[in-house]
Amino acid sequence: AAGSAIGLGNIWRFPYLTGENGGSAFIIIYLFCIIIVGFSVMIAEFAVGRRTSLAAVGAYKSQSRNWTFAGVLGVISGFFIMGFYPVVGGWSLAYIFKSITGLLAVPEATGEIFGAFIGAPVEPLIWTVIYMLLNVAIVAKGIAGGIEKASKVLMPTLFVLLIIVILKGISLPGSSAGLRYLFKPDWSQVTGGTVLTALGQSFFTLSLGMGCMLTYGSYLRKDENIPGNALTVVVMDTLVAIMAGLAIFPALFAFGMQPEAGPGLVFIVVPALFSHMGNVGPIISILFFAALAVAALTSSISLLEVVVAYLIDEKKMDRRFATYISSAVITVMCVLSSLSMGKMSGVKLFGVGFFDFFDILTDKIFLAIGGMLITIFVGWFM
Ligand code: TRP
Repeated sequence: AAGSAIGLGNIWRFPYLTGENGGSAFIIIYLFCIIIVGFSVMIAEFAVGRRTSLAAVGAYKSQSRNWTFAGVLGVISGFFIMGFYPVVGGWSLAYIFKSITGLLAVPEATGEIFGAFIGAPVEPLIWTVIYMLLNVAIVAKGIAGGIEKASKVLMPTLFVLLIIVILKGISLPGSSAGLRYLFKPDWSQVTGGTVLTALGQSFFTLSLGMGCMLTYGSYLRKDENIPGNALTVVVMDTLVAIMAGLAIFPALFAFGMQPEAGPGLVFIVVPALFSHMGNVGPIISILFFAALAVAALTSSISLLEVVVAYLIDEKKMDRRFATYISSAVITVMCVLSSLSMGKMSGVKLFGVGFFDFFDILTDKIFLAIGGMLITIFVGWFM
């Protein structure tokens, strides 16, 4: 469950949303959402999963046919999140290799390199497809055990690397402005939109509101402590998010960069920091992006698994076929998302590009509705 929760949501999404929403005040609202809403919804999901021992749709259905739609809504959310998540997973993979092909040569150029990379028509697509193939290989074979072993090594690696990055960042002259940005709230920038973004991010980062944690709960033994398990996942996830903030903002201010840089933030600031590390820079950079890619992978397989489990259980497909067919459609959505950063930036759905469309649709709408439904289900029905 921690592998599912800790992913791009913590290291890529949380820092850039913090930057776009003015820093500390956003973080405080986010923490409030995590404690008050996220923790409770996670307990609810674990409880339904443990009671029914079934995956999302089956779990609802087994209690009442009228609730099947809540499970199906979750499957649809997972499907749409997979419409953009693998694009960023692909960026992480690409950056493993870019670490030794010029990315770190000039610290001031990381922004331009990132912009040119994601806007290119072909290169990011190749990485997205490679990333998807990794997901397919794992989910089609049902070999999550293998990735779990890899993540037991790479997750602690990520943790240690974050500490190194934090220490390097706060040692730079001018970094204290970043600490102030993270810890001294400026409430003047807070709007209703800030609160909605914080709430959406709390669902996204904890993998809530779509039956993912429900499915993981179905593997819990009957004597396992549900609030205890939920607390462990919530604390670990929040710790990694805060560490990512500490890794990025002090360095960002020291370099005189802009917090509002948007989705490129981690891909711009962290390499700039590595390029100040001399000979060890490339090695640390390779490890960092490899660990990030694995963290992403342990999250996206949990998303894909919800979709695949639905096709297997409800549509009676076999595992391979279900994985191939869903991944083919997902890959098409990802191609559109990726191209919306460049060639297709003019194509809009409801006023935004494909990438933002899938993102906003899921985390600001679907996940919150899914979270509300599970809460009503557990509190008033079950
Ligand atoms: N929580 C993951 C992350 O932070 C992403 C994720 C995995 C997710 N499963 C989910 C988000 C289910 C919402 C719902 O990267």
